[in-house]
Parts: sequence; structure tokens; C-alpha cells
Amino acid sequence: MSFQIDFKGEKVIQATEQQTILDAALAAGIPHYHACGGKGECTTCRVLVLEGKEQLSELTSYERSIIAALGLPDNMRLACQSKVRGDGVKVHRLIKDDTDHYIFTNGDEEGITEVMGVRRKLALFFIDIRNFTPFIESHLPFDVIHIMRRIFTLLRNAIEQYEGRIIDTAGDGLYAVFGLEARIRSAAESAVLAGLKILEDVKIFNNTYMRPYFSHSFEVGIGVHVGKVIYGNVGIGLNNNLTVMGYPVNIAARLQAATKEVNNSFVISEQAYALLRNPPYAAGSAHLNLKGVTRAFEVKLIGKPYQHAHVPVPEKV
Ligand code: FES
Repeated sequence: MSFQIDFKGEKVIQATEQQTILDAALAAGIPHYHACGGKGECTTCRVLVLEGKEQLSELTSYERSIIAALGLPDNMRLACQSKVRGDGVKVHRLIKDDTDHYIFTNGDEEGITEVMGVRRKLALFFIDIRNFTPFIESHLPFDVIHIMRRIFTLLRNAIEQYEGRIIDTAGDGLYAVFGLEARIRSAAESAVLAGLKILEDVKIFNNTYMRPYFSHSFEVGIGVHVGKVIYGNVGIGLNNNLTVMGYPVNIAARLQAATKEVNNSFVISEQAYALLRNPPYAAGSAHLNLKGVTRAFEVKLIGKPYQHAHVPVPEKV
């Protein structure tokens, strides 16, 4: 069975019960924008329902969360999520020409879903370079920046080799995510492989460069967790302003901080560890009391004990 949909000012088309409004529009030759590919994540396919909203299918969970987040009126629907159940539906497309599209996407076709915000399960990766302060205190600024660049290049290469993306750097640490273009299981594996590579590369860097030329060595602390987060581009004109937010991000940061407490350079949450098809050897498990988490949080220790004592620094609020 099929029903009519009147696209105001454009044409009247037919839609079957199985087709979404978007599918029917595209099949009828209407150039309906759908930047996320119809996954309910971008809202570019939004239509205003002028008549017959009672003839449309129930709101999907994607639509409910978007309506709640953006405060949309109840006659706004996502064409990729709604189907028609009877005649008499009349809709008005939001994005109809290139100017509309440009305004909506800010000229960034590929980045539109990032601009609008996406909720997705990612692997979250925090790393911090230890014993950097004594190095800063005892070396020239040129040397400090030079070494910082060497180490950050080493971190970046490993993260990018496993398709992670650096979100932010802060002082002598950084924060990356894995899984923007992969499923969560692969994302967790990539985060672990990148972390293990960094541990190995730092060891080599210490042996071949830092000790011979600077009589110093570095250690790192890595925390990895997985979870559903929101990411999006905050759009203030910076090159890399992808922001990732959510409770799992805080957990990953705390796991990284906990590496000192458990005296192991790589701490991974039990949830992330359980996703690994070939988990690395874990020297042990620990139950951590993390700030803001009511019950003890189980983690695996997959790094090495530290050579130097690292006194935990109280967490800033
Ligand atoms: S196409 Fe992205 S929400 Fe419908």
C-alpha cells in the first residue's frame, strides 16, 4: 500500500508503508539533504509537517532525543525516521537550496554530523608524561620544547597509526578517542595497541636519546575506558575543535590519574578489557574508588610498574 505526501511548493509523491519520507523523496527525485546518511544523527533531513501529522509513524528514539535536546516543535520530524500511514500529509523541507545548505552546514559538508553533534560509543584514551617537571627545572627552554615536541610526535604517530584522534592536549598530557569510524570493539583494541606501542616507543626513546644526551628518562601513565559520549564541533573557528563530552570521559581521565596509585603505567577499565579479542597480559586487577562513582570500579593493569615513585597529585575540582 502507498500514500501521498505533498512536498509544499515542490511535488506530490507516493510513499510505501516501508519507506521513510526520506527514502520516498529521494526515489521521487527530490534532492532531500541527508548528511548523516539517514541515521538520525544530523537533523539535515528535518521537515515541518504542515498537515496530517497524525498519519505519521511514532517518533523514534533518535527523534525523541533530538526533540528533547533542541526543543523542536512537535510538528517537526526527521524525514529519515518517519513513515507515512495514510493520505493527507503535507510537509515543508528545511534545506532546499545551496544557500540553505551552506548556512546549515557552515560550508563543511563532511563535518556536518560533527557540527551538529553525535552520540556514539567511543574508546577514550588519556595519557600523561611523568617526571617532566624535574626536566623543565633543570634544562634550557629550548631543550624543554624540543623534547616535548619529540615526545608528542611519538604519541601522535602511535595514536594516528591506530586511527585515533587527538582531542586535546594539556600541559604534559593529551586526550584522544578511538572509534569515530570504527565499531567499539575495534576502537578498544586500537586504543590498547596504541597505548602499548607508546610504552614501547617511550622505552626506546629513553634508551637511545634521553639517557645518552640528557641523562634523564620519562615514564607515562595511560587510562582507557569505553562508553557512550557526545561529540561535536563547537564551531569557534579553530582548526581542531572537536569536543567529546560525557561521564565516560571523566572516568578515563581518572583511570589515567590512578596509574600512580596502582603503580602501573596502563590502566584499562574492565568494560574495555572485556571487548578485546586478544587481550594483552594483565599483571593484575584492582578495584578503584573513583570520585563520583558510587561502587568500586574494576580495572585491569596492562602496563609495567614504575621505575620512579610518582606521588599522586590531588585532583583539581
Ligand atoms: S539524515 Fe541525518 S537525521 Fe535524517
